[in-house]
Amino acid sequence: MLSLPVLDLSIPQVDESSPGTPIPPSRKLYVETYGCQMNVNDSEIVMGVMHQNGYLMTDKPDDADVILINTCAVRDNAEKKIHERLDHLKYYKKRNRDLVVGVLGCMAERLRGELLEKKLVDIVVGPDEYRSVPELVGRAYTGEKGIAVKLSRVETYDDILPLRTDGIAAWVSIMRGCDKFCTFCVVPFTRGRERSRAMNSVVDELKILWEHGFKEATLLGQNVNSYRDEQSSKDFADLLVASARAVPGMRIRYTTSHPQDMSDKLIETQAEFENICKHIHLPVQSGSDRILKLMNRTYTVAHYLERISKIRKLIPNCALTTDIIVGFPTETDKDNAATMELMREVRFDGAFMYNYSPRENTKAWKMGDDVSDAVKTERLSAIIAQQRIIAGEQNQLCVGTIEHVLVEGPSKKSPAEWQGRTDSNRIVIFPHTELGAYIVGDIIPVKIHRANSATLFGEVV
Ligand code: SAM
Ligand code: SF4
Ligand code: F3S
Repeated sequence: MLSLPVLDLSIPQVDESSPGTPIPPSRKLYVETYGCQMNVNDSEIVMGVMHQNGYLMTDKPDDADVILINTCAVRDNAEKKIHERLDHLKYYKKRNRDLVVGVLGCMAERLRGELLEKKLVDIVVGPDEYRSVPELVGRAYTGEKGIAVKLSRVETYDDILPLRTDGIAAWVSIMRGCDKFCTFCVVPFTRGRERSRAMNSVVDELKILWEHGFKEATLLGQNVNSYRDEQSSKDFADLLVASARAVPGMRIRYTTSHPQDMSDKLIETQAEFENICKHIHLPVQSGSDRILKLMNRTYTVAHYLERISKIRKLIPNCALTTDIIVGFPTETDKDNAATMELMREVRFDGAFMYNYSPRENTKAWKMGDDVSDAVKTERLSAIIAQQRIIAGEQNQLCVGTIEHVLVEGPSKKSPAEWQGRTDSNRIVIFPHTELGAYIVGDIIPVKIHRANSATLFGEVV
């Protein structure tokens, strides 16, 4: 069974193999994470592995003996940002010649040895090789550069203890990789074949999180709804049932789900359990059947809309969010208008919207990149503007209602106020009352007085 280490930056670590023996002054590790939530959880796994090997954590790169950058390769601008950051890290290496710098994650897997050509970079490690990080770092101290980028069909890090820093909300990866091969996407190449963790190990981890004071867990995977426990043949809906029952006081979320695998059983399960949050992130990518086919998304607009109406029927208050790509190869104004039309029809509560970015070695790469940057940007601006209006109107529907808000702490923008999150994943800002501070992790009733496209504002009742 897993046990959960709690991050403490100050105390010396203890060697697990020889209880009670403190390791002499430890080296300090700083990890910086880019990309999706799976990368956030992967960084926690890497910190867990390094912690077991006696490393202390630091949140200051200046203090670090080892700097690891966990990278994303999904779009070209994500990679550009990381190249810029690596250039900046030269400054730290100049000040500390013994500093070890490692590149982890999807960009490490994509670019492999090419990254080692940079003088600054000592180690390159792909998403399925994180167990080898301590050994590679150890060798880097002796001046040996190292690389480990083999993808695995079985690695799920089931037995690794993620080292978490956030006190109330946890990311829990339930599967790795992706078998969908959307033609625009690098993920199947950077993260390999799809594989799921054992159901028992996920449920055990949730119980431990609850015991350690976590109030919310988000189950993560590229397509959580194709989760399958090989031993028991249980599917994602079964995992949700087991999770909801094991930690009835905990809010459970999940992301991302694929429209093709959004089964009736899953929607019915979500409707049945109060602690499974009423929010579904269901990326549609495009509102044109022709483009969906070229993208190999394996569903039609009609199928997508049918799933949405099923969700709305069974879970009337369910928040819906999506991902959209504009400017996919051959996309016309008519295709783009169809996407805008679909967004008006569904009325998403939120959307992540991107310009198409060609990725080497994907099928779409060979289709060219015939939509100019100017046209992409024009279409993206129109879609963002429309979505902002819809999200604002959707949020207005909350005005006058009482929302159950999980208190996260002081608001980031105005520390005099507090911030929390609704079941539907909306951010709520509310002032202090004379009763004083609320307790982080409590769920409190907040009456909503006003709203904009991103945030609700209210008062505790
Ligand atoms: N697995 C999820 C799914 O199927 O929807 C999403 C994973 S992907 C990391 C997150 C989002 O990035 C995708 O939904 C898509 O909208 C966007 N994306 C992926 N590849 C892209 C590309 N080449 N250009 C622009 N956006 C891309
Ligand atoms: Fe990429 Fe498609 Fe897999 Fe999502 S489902 S990770 S978009 S290949
Ligand atoms: Fe990026 Fe890899 Fe996630 S490409 S979005 S970090 S799976």
